[in-house]
Amino acid sequence: MAQQTTQERLTIQDLIESRHSVRKFVQETIPKEDIDRIFDLVRLSPSAWNLQPWRFHVVTDTDLKQKLQDAAYGQTQVTSAPAVILVTSDMEDVIRNFPETVHPGLSEEHKQTEIANLSSLFGGMSVEDRGQWGLTQTNIALGFLLVSLEGFGYSSVPMLGFDQEKVKEILGLSEHVKFAAMVPFGRADAEGYPHHRYELDKIVKYH
Ligand SMILES: Cc1cc2nc3c(=O)[nH]c(=O)nc-3n(C[C@H](O)[C@H](O)[C@H](O)COP(=O)(O)O)c2cc1C
Repeated sequence: MAQQTTQERLTIQDLIESRHSVRKFVQETIPKEDIDRIFDLVRLSPSAWNLQPWRFHVVTDTDLKQKLQDAAYGQTQVTSAPAVILVTSDMEDVIRNFPETVHPGLSEEHKQTEIANLSSLFGGMSVEDRGQWGLTQTNIALGFLLVSLEGFGYSSVPMLGFDQEKVKEILGLSEHVKFAAMVPFGRADAEGYPHHRYELDKIVKYH
Protein backbone atom coordinates (compact mmCIF):
# COMPACT_ATOMS: atom_id res chain seq x y z
CA MET A 1 0.00 0.00 0.00
CA ALA A 2 1.30 3.49 -0.77
CA GLN A 3 1.14 5.61 2.37
CA GLN A 4 1.99 8.86 0.64
CA THR A 5 -0.13 11.97 0.57
CA THR A 6 -1.30 13.25 -2.78
CA GLN A 7 1.34 16.01 -2.47
CA GLU A 8 4.32 13.67 -2.81
CA ARG A 9 5.65 12.71 -6.20
CA LEU A 10 5.87 8.96 -6.73
CA THR A 11 7.39 7.35 -9.76
CA ILE A 12 5.48 4.86 -11.88
CA GLN A 13 7.89 2.23 -10.49
CA ASP A 14 6.91 3.14 -6.90
CA LEU A 15 3.21 2.89 -7.73
CA ILE A 16 3.37 -0.45 -9.52
CA GLU A 17 5.62 -1.99 -6.87
CA SER A 18 3.48 -0.78 -3.97
CA ARG A 19 0.09 -1.67 -5.48
CA HIS A 20 -1.31 -4.92 -4.21
CA SER A 21 -4.78 -6.08 -3.31
CA VAL A 22 -6.12 -4.87 0.03
CA ARG A 23 -9.40 -6.13 1.43
CA LYS A 24 -9.90 -4.06 4.62
CA PHE A 25 -10.21 -0.29 4.55
CA VAL A 26 -10.28 2.73 6.88
CA GLN A 27 -13.87 3.81 7.49
CA GLU A 28 -14.04 7.35 6.11
CA THR A 29 -15.57 9.31 3.28
CA ILE A 30 -13.47 9.65 0.15
CA PRO A 31 -13.38 13.28 -1.05
CA LYS A 32 -15.26 13.66 -4.35
CA GLU A 33 -12.37 15.85 -5.52
CA ASP A 34 -9.98 12.88 -5.26
CA ILE A 35 -12.35 10.65 -7.21
CA ASP A 36 -12.68 13.28 -9.95
CA ARG A 37 -8.91 13.67 -10.17
CA ILE A 38 -8.46 9.90 -10.39
CA PHE A 39 -10.98 9.62 -13.24
CA ASP A 40 -9.32 12.57 -14.96
CA LEU A 41 -6.24 10.34 -15.22
CA VAL A 42 -8.10 7.15 -16.04
CA ARG A 43 -9.90 8.76 -18.98
CA LEU A 44 -6.49 9.22 -20.63
CA SER A 45 -6.27 5.44 -21.14
CA PRO A 46 -5.70 4.51 -24.77
CA SER A 47 -8.24 2.52 -26.80
CA ALA A 48 -8.44 1.32 -30.39
CA TRP A 49 -9.90 4.09 -32.57
CA ASN A 50 -10.11 6.08 -29.34
CA LEU A 51 -13.56 4.57 -28.74
CA GLN A 52 -13.32 4.78 -24.92
CA PRO A 53 -16.02 2.18 -24.14
CA TRP A 54 -15.39 2.33 -20.38
CA ARG A 55 -18.16 3.65 -18.14
CA PHE A 56 -17.70 3.85 -14.37
CA HIS A 57 -20.26 3.59 -11.58
CA VAL A 58 -19.14 4.79 -8.14
CA VAL A 59 -21.13 3.34 -5.26
CA THR A 60 -20.89 4.88 -1.76
CA ASP A 61 -24.43 4.24 -0.49
CA THR A 62 -24.34 1.77 2.41
CA ASP A 63 -27.44 -0.20 1.36
CA LEU A 64 -26.23 -0.49 -2.23
CA LYS A 65 -22.80 -1.66 -1.06
CA GLN A 66 -24.48 -4.34 1.05
CA LYS A 67 -26.43 -5.49 -2.02
CA LEU A 68 -23.21 -5.57 -4.07
CA GLN A 69 -21.53 -7.61 -1.34
CA ASP A 70 -24.42 -10.10 -1.38
CA ALA A 71 -24.01 -10.35 -5.18
CA ALA A 72 -20.26 -10.90 -4.61
CA TYR A 73 -20.94 -14.04 -2.58
CA GLY A 74 -20.43 -12.16 0.70
CA GLN A 75 -16.86 -10.93 0.02
CA THR A 76 -16.49 -8.50 2.92
CA GLN A 77 -14.11 -6.07 1.21
CA VAL A 78 -17.15 -4.65 -0.59
CA THR A 79 -18.80 -3.13 2.48
CA SER A 80 -15.45 -2.45 4.15
CA ALA A 81 -14.59 -0.04 1.32
CA PRO A 82 -15.80 3.56 1.56
CA ALA A 83 -16.42 3.44 -2.20
CA VAL A 84 -16.77 0.76 -4.83
CA ILE A 85 -16.19 1.37 -8.53
CA LEU A 86 -17.89 -0.80 -11.13
CA VAL A 87 -15.71 -0.71 -14.24
CA THR A 88 -18.09 -1.43 -17.10
CA SER A 89 -17.93 -1.42 -20.87
CA ASP A 90 -20.78 -0.15 -23.03
CA MET A 91 -20.16 -0.62 -26.73
CA GLU A 92 -23.80 0.07 -27.59
CA ASP A 93 -23.36 3.59 -26.23
CA VAL A 94 -20.15 3.87 -28.26
CA ILE A 95 -21.76 2.89 -31.54
CA ARG A 96 -24.60 5.39 -31.01
CA ASN A 97 -22.03 8.18 -30.67
CA PHE A 98 -19.14 7.57 -33.09
CA PRO A 99 -18.83 11.29 -34.02
CA GLU A 100 -17.97 12.12 -30.39
CA THR A 101 -14.87 9.92 -30.44
CA VAL A 102 -13.46 11.00 -33.80
CA HIS A 103 -10.57 13.40 -33.28
CA PRO A 104 -11.59 17.05 -33.85
CA GLY A 105 -8.23 17.68 -35.54
CA LEU A 106 -9.20 15.52 -38.55
CA SER A 107 -10.55 17.06 -41.75
CA GLU A 108 -14.31 16.83 -42.24
CA GLU A 109 -13.81 14.31 -45.05
CA HIS A 110 -11.47 12.17 -42.93
CA LYS A 111 -13.98 12.27 -40.04
CA GLN A 112 -16.82 11.08 -42.27
CA THR A 113 -14.69 8.25 -43.68
CA GLU A 114 -13.72 7.14 -40.19
CA ILE A 115 -17.32 7.20 -38.95
CA ALA A 116 -18.43 5.18 -42.00
CA ASN A 117 -15.63 2.63 -41.44
CA LEU A 118 -16.46 2.26 -37.75
CA SER A 119 -20.18 1.92 -38.46
CA SER A 120 -19.52 -0.76 -41.04
CA LEU A 121 -17.06 -2.70 -38.85
CA PHE A 122 -19.03 -2.69 -35.61
CA GLY A 123 -22.44 -2.76 -37.32
CA GLY A 124 -21.38 -6.09 -38.84
CA MET A 125 -20.69 -7.64 -35.43
CA SER A 126 -23.16 -9.13 -32.97
CA VAL A 127 -23.93 -7.20 -29.76
CA GLU A 128 -22.11 -9.95 -27.85
CA ASP A 129 -18.98 -9.87 -30.05
CA ARG A 130 -18.64 -6.10 -29.97
CA GLY A 131 -19.33 -6.20 -26.24
CA GLN A 132 -16.39 -8.58 -25.78
CA TRP A 133 -14.25 -6.38 -28.02
CA GLY A 134 -15.11 -3.34 -25.87
CA LEU A 135 -14.13 -5.26 -22.77
CA THR A 136 -10.59 -5.77 -24.11
CA GLN A 137 -10.27 -1.98 -24.29
CA THR A 138 -11.92 -1.37 -20.91
CA ASN A 139 -9.41 -3.66 -19.22
CA ILE A 140 -6.72 -1.13 -20.17
CA ALA A 141 -8.64 1.51 -18.20
CA LEU A 142 -8.93 -0.93 -15.28
CA GLY A 143 -5.11 -1.10 -15.15
CA PHE A 144 -4.84 2.68 -15.28
CA LEU A 145 -7.46 2.91 -12.50
CA LEU A 146 -5.60 0.57 -10.13
CA VAL A 147 -2.36 2.51 -10.56
CA SER A 148 -4.10 5.91 -10.32
CA LEU A 149 -5.83 4.92 -7.08
CA GLU A 150 -2.46 3.92 -5.67
CA GLY A 151 -1.06 7.28 -6.74
CA PHE A 152 -3.68 9.06 -4.65
CA GLY A 153 -2.89 6.94 -1.59
CA TYR A 154 -5.81 4.53 -2.00
CA SER A 155 -5.56 0.78 -1.96
CA SER A 156 -7.99 -1.41 -3.84
CA VAL A 157 -8.84 -4.89 -4.94
CA PRO A 158 -10.08 -5.70 -8.44
CA MET A 159 -12.85 -8.32 -8.32
CA LEU A 160 -14.71 -10.47 -10.80
CA GLY A 161 -16.12 -12.84 -8.22
CA PHE A 162 -19.69 -11.61 -8.38
CA ASP A 163 -22.99 -12.43 -10.05
CA GLN A 164 -23.01 -10.05 -13.01
CA GLU A 165 -26.75 -10.31 -13.65
CA LYS A 166 -27.48 -9.41 -10.02
CA VAL A 167 -25.17 -6.39 -10.16
CA LYS A 168 -26.84 -5.19 -13.38
CA GLU A 169 -30.18 -5.43 -11.57
CA ILE A 170 -28.88 -3.53 -8.51
CA LEU A 171 -27.48 -0.67 -10.60
CA GLY A 172 -30.14 -0.70 -13.31
CA LEU A 173 -27.64 -1.47 -16.09
CA SER A 174 -28.64 -2.71 -19.55
CA GLU A 175 -28.27 -6.36 -20.44
CA HIS A 176 -25.52 -5.68 -23.04
CA VAL A 177 -23.18 -3.97 -20.52
CA LYS A 178 -19.98 -5.90 -19.70
CA PHE A 179 -17.93 -5.80 -16.49
CA ALA A 180 -14.15 -5.45 -16.32
CA ALA A 181 -14.22 -5.51 -12.53
CA MET A 182 -15.76 -4.37 -9.28
CA VAL A 183 -13.12 -2.31 -7.42
CA PRO A 184 -13.61 -1.61 -3.70
CA PHE A 185 -11.11 1.05 -2.61
CA GLY A 186 -10.06 3.27 0.28
CA ARG A 187 -7.12 3.81 2.57
CA ALA A 188 -5.70 0.46 3.64
CA ASP A 189 -6.50 -0.84 7.12
CA ALA A 190 -4.68 -4.15 6.64
CA GLU A 191 -1.74 -5.48 4.70
CA GLY A 192 -2.28 -7.59 1.63
CA TYR A 193 -0.04 -10.40 0.46
CA PRO A 194 3.47 -9.69 -0.86
CA HIS A 195 3.81 -10.00 -4.62
CA HIS A 196 4.03 -13.54 -5.96
CA ARG A 197 4.79 -13.53 -9.68
CA TYR A 198 6.40 -15.56 -12.44
CA GLU A 199 10.04 -14.89 -13.26
CA LEU A 200 10.73 -12.99 -16.47
CA ASP A 201 12.05 -16.03 -18.37
CA LYS A 202 8.62 -17.65 -18.08
CA ILE A 203 6.66 -14.72 -19.48
CA VAL A 204 9.06 -12.88 -21.81
CA LYS A 205 10.57 -14.36 -24.97
CA TYR A 206 13.03 -12.52 -27.20
CA HIS A 207 12.95 -13.24 -30.93
C1 LIG B 1 -9.90 -9.40 -12.96
C2 LIG B 1 -9.58 -9.74 -11.53
C3 LIG B 1 -10.54 -10.35 -10.74
C4 LIG B 1 -10.28 -10.61 -9.39
N1 LIG B 1 -11.29 -11.09 -8.59
C5 LIG B 1 -11.10 -11.14 -7.25
C6 LIG B 1 -12.17 -11.46 -6.39
O1 LIG B 1 -13.31 -11.68 -6.81
N2 LIG B 1 -11.92 -11.48 -5.06
C7 LIG B 1 -10.68 -11.22 -4.54
O2 LIG B 1 -10.54 -11.25 -3.31
N3 LIG B 1 -9.64 -10.91 -5.34
C8 LIG B 1 -9.81 -10.85 -6.68
N4 LIG B 1 -8.77 -10.50 -7.51
C9 LIG B 1 -7.45 -10.15 -6.92
C10 LIG B 1 -6.36 -11.16 -7.27
O3 LIG B 1 -6.49 -12.29 -6.47
C11 LIG B 1 -5.00 -10.47 -7.09
O4 LIG B 1 -4.90 -9.35 -7.93
C12 LIG B 1 -3.84 -11.42 -7.40
O5 LIG B 1 -3.81 -12.49 -6.50
C13 LIG B 1 -2.49 -10.68 -7.33
O6 LIG B 1 -2.31 -10.09 -6.06
P1 LIG B 1 -2.09 -8.54 -5.86
O7 LIG B 1 -3.26 -7.81 -6.48
O8 LIG B 1 -2.06 -8.35 -4.37
O9 LIG B 1 -0.81 -8.15 -6.52
C14 LIG B 1 -9.01 -10.30 -8.84
C15 LIG B 1 -8.02 -9.72 -9.68
C16 LIG B 1 -8.30 -9.43 -10.99
C17 LIG B 1 -7.25 -8.74 -11.84
